[in-house]
Amino acid sequence: MAQTSTTPIRHLLEVGQFDRPGIEHLFAEADRMRDLPRSAAPLAGLILATLFYEPSTRTRLSFESAMLRLGGNIISTENAREFSSAIKGETVEDTIRIVNGYADAIVIRHYEQGAAHRAAEVSGVPILNAGDGPGEHPSQALLDLYTIGHELGRIDNLRVALIGDLRYGRTARSLARLLRLTEGTELVFVSPPAVPMGADIRAELAEAGVPFRDDPDLDAVLPNVDVVYQTRVQKERFASTEEYESAKGQYVTDAEAMRRLNPGAILMHPLPRVDEITTAVDADPRAAYFRQAHNGVFIRMALLNELLADGSTTGR
Ligand code: CP
Repeated sequence: MAQTSTTPIRHLLEVGQFDRPGIEHLFAEADRMRDLPRSAAPLAGLILATLFYEPSTRTRLSFESAMLRLGGNIISTENAREFSSAIKGETVEDTIRIVNGYADAIVIRHYEQGAAHRAAEVSGVPILNAGDGPGEHPSQALLDLYTIGHELGRIDNLRVALIGDLRYGRTARSLARLLRLTEGTELVFVSPPAVPMGADIRAELAEAGVPFRDDPDLDAVLPNVDVVYQTRVQKERFASTEEYESAKGQYVTDAEAMRRLNPGAILMHPLPRVDEITTAVDADPRAAYFRQAHNGVFIRMALLNELLADGSTTGR
């Protein structure tokens, strides 16, 4: 049985599955994966299926790179919404039952919140949630917190500003939940009025005793935080173009914003970006978003290895 926490887990569905020892163990494993020789091949002979009903560059390719670096193989559908039998009306549950016969683990991204949980209910092999609508994106949050640790040398006593679309942005939602496992963290939500952080996440933070506040004034926030986590306004989740237009373009990090940012802070973004971070910012050493994306390979190697290497889910 894979062990990513003090309580073993079989699937990666949401960040709520983790406790503090679990993330510390996973981050140590990700560090180990950085230097793992390709010849080690701990997952040789195993097959990962990547089933993406929504577009992706980073998540799909980094999961596939991770599996290949571990000596495993991949089968993939990058546009399952159109090019799998979903277009003929097949349910997620039936698709998962079928792919169980083809692969030892399944990474799924789906446009419906809760789809990964539904997949896990019928799956005999590990399911890894690569994003379920506006729900969660747990491997992203794990790589985000891992990146904070690498960049700042700590994951505690952080002042974190989450910027942008906090209503539909699943990466911000998952990261806020994961930060409950840190000590002394304070959160600031900077979002357009149409897309505030959800009441469900606020309730969880309040219950965990994590201080948070809303502040629409990004200029005032920038000098006083350690981490700025920018996000894209999720055009694909809005009911109408008018609603999207009312939310987009309100918070842009440009060279002027970087002058206000605390010199010891970092700027993160799960990517892709549209216009919320200008390219002029990329050369600033505090711009951590490309390093952040590269860290995804090591976190995903650690996750796959934890779920598959001991053979309990594959019968090896
Ligand atoms: N961060 C992220 O989920 O990127 P992709 O949509 O490219 O996978």
